Amino acid sequence: MGGFGYPRLFAHRGGGALAPENTLAGIRLAARLGFRGVEFDVMLSADGIAVLIHDEALSRTTDGAGEVASTPYAELSRLDAGSRFHSAFGGEPVPRLEAALACCARLGLVANVEIKPAAGLDGETGRIVGNSVVRGEPGAVLLSSFSEAALAAARSQAPAVPRALLFEAPPPDWRGRLSGLECLALHCAARYLSPELAAALRAAGIPFACYTVNDRAAAADLYAAGAAALFTDRLDLFDPRNPDGS
Ligand code: G3P
Ligand code: MG
Repeated sequence: MGGFGYPRLFAHRGGGALAPENTLAGIRLAARLGFRGVEFDVMLSADGIAVLIHDEALSRTTDGAGEVASTPYAELSRLDAGSRFHSAFGGEPVPRLEAALACCARLGLVANVEIKPAAGLDGETGRIVGNSVVRGEPGAVLLSSFSEAALAAARSQAPAVPRALLFEAPPPDWRGRLSGLECLALHCAARYLSPELAAALRAAGIPFACYTVNDRAAAADLYAAGAAALFTDRLDLFDPRNPDGS
């Protein structure tokens, strides 16, 4: 697994706060605003189709009810994932991973595919996502997950697609966990990036990226600490061509 050209900013959950999360409308909006990278979350339907969604339950972001993992794709495909955000996005579907990847490829976006398995489905989700990304353009996809089992399964299918291990707060043994999965990078919650951790990552030459940064001053501090990239909801706040405002 070679290096990876991080965009300096990723639009979080597709279009951040400007569009319904994890939708193609969000991804398109990020591209229109000049973003080069988008992050989105991927889970399996009951019949093993990889779709973009963050929660295990359908109710927060769609007009459906129940769990993603117990709903067949045919049913998911009829849901409205836009209206809860705003009626202007009514009818926006829950996208399949393949559609999101094709959209990113068309728009020249780097996709950070966050594998977000429903409970107990780590290996299966990683395997299916790995299979979906293996044929993409080199450098177009970065896989990440909080689930080490999911990343391991993705690696078995797509060993050459770069991986980042995702933590809220990196544990003391982060180094061994990253090397065990041959991860290129560490992603973590911005509030848990201590100066000591940043220094250790810099010294080890391991790229790192932080979520979710919705404030210019915090972003400047994180870039100064060596962050390769940041995830943001505030697509309106940052100029993706000049994210640190320099
Ligand atoms: O991948 C970074 C970030 O998206 C992780 O948190 O909960 O928004 O998926 P979450
Ligand atoms: Mg995510």
